Amino acid sequence: MDQQNYSRVAEFVLLGLCSSWELQYIFFMLFNFLYIAIVLGNLLIIFTVISEPALHTPMYIMLSNLSVLDVFLGSYATPKMIHDFIHEPKIISFEGCMAQIFLLHVFAGGEMVLLVAMAYDRYVAICKPLHYVIIMNSCKCTGLVVGSWVIGVIHSLSQLAFTVNLPFCGPNIVDSYYCDLTLVIKLACTDTYIPEVLMLLDSGLMGMTSFLLLLISYTVILVTVRQRSSAGMAKARSTLTAHITVVTLFFGPCIFIYAWPFSNLPVDKVFSVFSTVFTPILNPLIYTLRNKEMKSTIYKLKVRYVR
Ligand SMILES: *[C@@H]1O[C@H](CO)[C@@H](O)[C@H](O)[C@H]1NC(C)=O
Repeated sequence: MDQQNYSRVAEFVLLGLCSSWELQYIFFMLFNFLYIAIVLGNLLIIFTVISEPALHTPMYIMLSNLSVLDVFLGSYATPKMIHDFIHEPKIISFEGCMAQIFLLHVFAGGEMVLLVAMAYDRYVAICKPLHYVIIMNSCKCTGLVVGSWVIGVIHSLSQLAFTVNLPFCGPNIVDSYYCDLTLVIKLACTDTYIPEVLMLLDSGLMGMTSFLLLLISYTVILVTVRQRSSAGMAKARSTLTAHITVVTLFFGPCIFIYAWPFSNLPVDKVFSVFSTVFTPILNPLIYTLRNKEMKSTIYKLKVRYVR
C-alpha cells in the first residue's frame, strides 16, 4: 500500500453546503457575520480573563483556553467555506485536505479533554471545597491545559497515520464543505473496511471516554449540589447549567456524526456546521451571559477603556 505505483489525486472537489446560488449568497453573508462573532466573542473572553487578576483562577484560565480552542475550531474550515460560497469550483489540495483533517481532530480532541478538565475542576470545587486550593494548584491547571493539547495532537496523529497512506487514486468528490474524514476515507481505492473500523475505534474511544467521564463527574456534582442547599450552591448550580449546556451542544453533534458515520444523510452537514460554527459562538455567549463575574468584569473594562 505504501508503494506509490498509482497516481495519487492532487486535489479534492468539495460539493459545499448546498447547490442553490441564491442560498449560497445568503449563507455567504450569514456565515461572514457568524465568523466575526466567533472571533470577537472569544477574543473578548480571552481579553477579559487575562486583564482581570481576580479571574486568574483555574476555572477562568481553562475557560479562556477553551475560547482559544473555539477560535481555532471555528477557523480551520469556516473561512474556506465562506470563500467557497461565492467561488466555483470548490477545490482543496490533497495536502490542504489532510491539514483540515489533522486540525479538526487536534482542536475537537483538545476541546473534549479540556471540557473534562473543566468538569474535574468543578468537581473538586463543589465536592471537596476545603481542599480545592491544594488540589487545583496552578501547576495542575497548567498540566491539564497542556495535557489536553497533547492528547488532541496524539489522537489526531494516530487518526492521520492510517489515512495519508491510503491509495487515493480515483474519485475525489467530497459531499461536504470541508474534508470530513468519514467521507474522505471512503474515497480510497482499496477495501476501506479496516481503516473505517480503525477510525471509528479511534474517534469513538476518544469521544466515549470523555463523554463518560463528563457524565460521571456532572452526576456526582449534581447529586452533591442537591444534598446541600445554601447560597453558595445556587451559584454553583448556575455555573453547572452553563457547563452542562456546553457539553451537550458539543457532544450532541459529534455523537450524531460518528454514531451513523457512513449513512450519508444530509443532516450530517447540518450537524457539522453546528459543531464548527455554532458551538464556538455559543460557548462565549453561555459563559458570559450566565456568569456574574464575567459580566461585571466586562462592564469594568468597558468603563476603563471606553471613557
Ligand atoms: C491557558 O492556560 C495556560 C496554562 O494554565 C495559561 O498560562 C494561559 O494563560 C491560558 N491562556 C489563556 C489565553 O488564558
